[in-house]
Amino acid sequence: MLVHITENFEEMSKLAAQIVAELVRKKPDCVLGFATGSTPLGLYKELIRMHHKEGLDFSKVTTFNLDEYVGLPPEHNQSYHYFMWENLFNHINVDRRFVHIPMGMAKDIDAFCEWYEEKIQKAGGIDLQILGIGANGHIAFNEPGSSLGSRTRIKTLTGTTREANARFFQTPDEVPRYALTMGVGTIMDAKEILLLANGESKAEAIAATCEGPITAMWPATIVQMHRLATVIVDKAAASKLKMKY
Ligand code: GLP
Repeated sequence: MLVHITENFEEMSKLAAQIVAELVRKKPDCVLGFATGSTPLGLYKELIRMHHKEGLDFSKVTTFNLDEYVGLPPEHNQSYHYFMWENLFNHINVDRRFVHIPMGMAKDIDAFCEWYEEKIQKAGGIDLQILGIGANGHIAFNEPGSSLGSRTRIKTLTGTTREANARFFQTPDEVPRYALTMGVGTIMDAKEILLLANGESKAEAIAATCEGPITAMWPATIVQMHRLATVIVDKAAASKLKMKY
């Protein structure tokens, strides 16, 4: 695991964007795994800038998103579909046929999850998976206690995650109780992982992820087992790390 500590959010985002851009230039038809949340917003801004100013070409890229709330239609302004189009896809030349985001409105959820896994495999697997992290160590919506071998499935959100995400909804009650999420095993199958975190609220989770024992109670700790994982954190998120990096 490679750990980079950056001065701030902006530097974290730029470094992450360089890694993504390098892959897109080297392999124009690569498969990218995208994440939602406030953490990757700076990275997405930088990718948009690179597309406009440096001609970074996404036309052949295939994308898979990590997760989606159950019960929110794609046009709902808190759905992860909406988030991705609003914050990235509408501003780059991605081919909409190559974009995949879990369908929170799927009628047969199990069949959808199976289809999503197959689709990832048929695309040749994910070349680079971007991850944020929850303050409780969740990745995607794999909450503490999730099987470290899990595949795409429906998960119940914990009270802490619903509280953390309540800021985006009008009332806390509107936060969905369930989500579809790639499993920890699905994420670990990606050829490369890029985990980002910023701010003091992530410091404990980052310390567990980089230096703690591997445990399903902090799902992100499994990233220690990945052969090609890079963690980019700002100083505040790195503040509880004990080792020197
Ligand atoms: C959500 C998402 C995760 C994300 C996490 C952290 O629960 N499902 O993929 O990493 O929140 O969000 P933020 O980046 O806003 O702190």
